[in-house]
Amino acid sequence: MTKILVVDDEVSIQETLEMFLVEKGHEVFKAGNGQEAMSLFSRHTPDVVILDIRLPDTSGLDLLSRMQKLGTPSKIIMITAFHDMETTIQAMKLGAYDYVHKPLDAEEMERTVNRAICVLAVDRETPTQEKGEPNTDVIIGKSKQMRGIFKMIGLLSQNRATVLIQGETGTGKELIARVIHRNSLYDKEPFITLDCSAVVESLMESELFGHEKGAFTGANHTKLGKIELAGKGTLFLDEMGELPLNVQGKFLGFLQRREYMRVGGQQTRKSSCRIIAASNKDLSTLVQQGRFKEDLYFRLRVVTIQAPLLRDRLSDIPDLVSHFLRKINFELGTQVFKLQKGVIGRLKSHAWKGNVRELENLLVEAVIRARSNVILLEEIEKILTMNHSTMQMGLEDYSLPQMEKEHIRTTLSQCGWNRTQAARLLGISLPTLRSKIRRYGIDLVEGCAVP
Ligand SMILES: Nc1ncnc2c1ncn2[C@@H]1O[C@H](COP(=O)(O)OP(=O)(O)OP(=O)(O)O)[C@@H](O)[C@H]1O
Ligand SMILES: [Mg+2]
Repeated sequence: MTKILVVDDEVSIQETLEMFLVEKGHEVFKAGNGQEAMSLFSRHTPDVVILDIRLPDTSGLDLLSRMQKLGTPSKIIMITAFHDMETTIQAMKLGAYDYVHKPLDAEEMERTVNRAICVLAVDRETPTQEKGEPNTDVIIGKSKQMRGIFKMIGLLSQNRATVLIQGETGTGKELIARVIHRNSLYDKEPFITLDCSAVVESLMESELFGHEKGAFTGANHTKLGKIELAGKGTLFLDEMGELPLNVQGKFLGFLQRREYMRVGGQQTRKSSCRIIAASNKDLSTLVQQGRFKEDLYFRLRVVTIQAPLLRDRLSDIPDLVSHFLRKINFELGTQVFKLQKGVIGRLKSHAWKGNVRELENLLVEAVIRARSNVILLEEIEKILTMNHSTMQMGLEDYSLPQMEKEHIRTTLSQCGWNRTQAARLLGISLPTLRSKIRRYGIDLVEGCAVP
């Protein structure tokens, strides 16, 4: 049974809340002022406190901070008649779990209390994910595809072979390039990036090879190109497929002879930097379309690393989640390390279009939204649904059955996986809902059972 302390000086509110909460099966204590509240709080250590912000002998905010100082896990929900920004911010800062405005709405109150109870339960039951300072230059994954990549990085550590990394957006191409560099014999030398999609065509040659003073109008100073800046280190050419055709020829010449000249220069220079090229477009397709030189492609593809899609290595999701939670909490100065049961299952069932980056961004949002140290399935569902409607949806995603499946899943999740309640909300019978769940193969993730 959940213990709930109601603190409000209005007797009618105390009584209404008591009636309502007792009916839901909770044990309720009532206090009309700060003194009574503190004494009941110390005696019973309630799971949830519903606390009015205005009290006759003290302010709810003051009471909130005194209760917080006692270090119990109690979740404190503030109520107030004032829609005032300052107190809301102040209450959340002081660690209030949530905030509800008067006049109280029974459904809103029930949802808020249930969520608080759910967070408490998850908090008690789930182990905390590993904390500590994260290592950001590490590739996470134990799947077969990732093990293959680790082996290749090991082989590459002994030489300066040119590498091509292919893979869709957010699959970790840049990260792989950095790790190759860090594991090489020249890891103290520079790692220089040139994003071929970010430079206008006319300046690309000078970006790569540099230029002499006066080489063209506007060339007022000598400028070193990225090849020269990379020295004996690594030059990472991102979005290689965007390299203009005329520069592709010159770059191939450089790869073959390892010599180049600054634009407008006379002197031949040598470079031994390693080239790592990455592309999220398939270069062989670009070759077929006449947009990429075939001989340059042959030269680049000798060592190709294919960064796998996240949906092809779902078994890596738990490790990725722990890794990102450490990284995100460290960066944001937060302590959100717990996941409600079912969150990992839900993440495994999502169609990740933005791959690892999408997963990372989702977790950032979930950590920011979490009002305690727990990430709830309900929050994940909300973020996924929001992003789903705004993100790039494939045409197949617009089919009615697909939309119906998503809608059913979202509704179920928001009802704490209570099918009776979901069926009511969806306006269909329970047997119909059951048959749809079976037909669409919706995983009934065991969420936290709320009464
Ligand atoms: N295996 C992994 N382990 C840990 N973090 C990863 C992994 N793969 C990707 N990331 C992280 O995901 C984010 C996106 O990765 P990255 O920028 O390397 O992707 P990309 O393939 O270069 O994407 P794009 O094609 O959009 O440039 C980064 O924050 C990166 O650190
Ligand atoms: Mg990238």
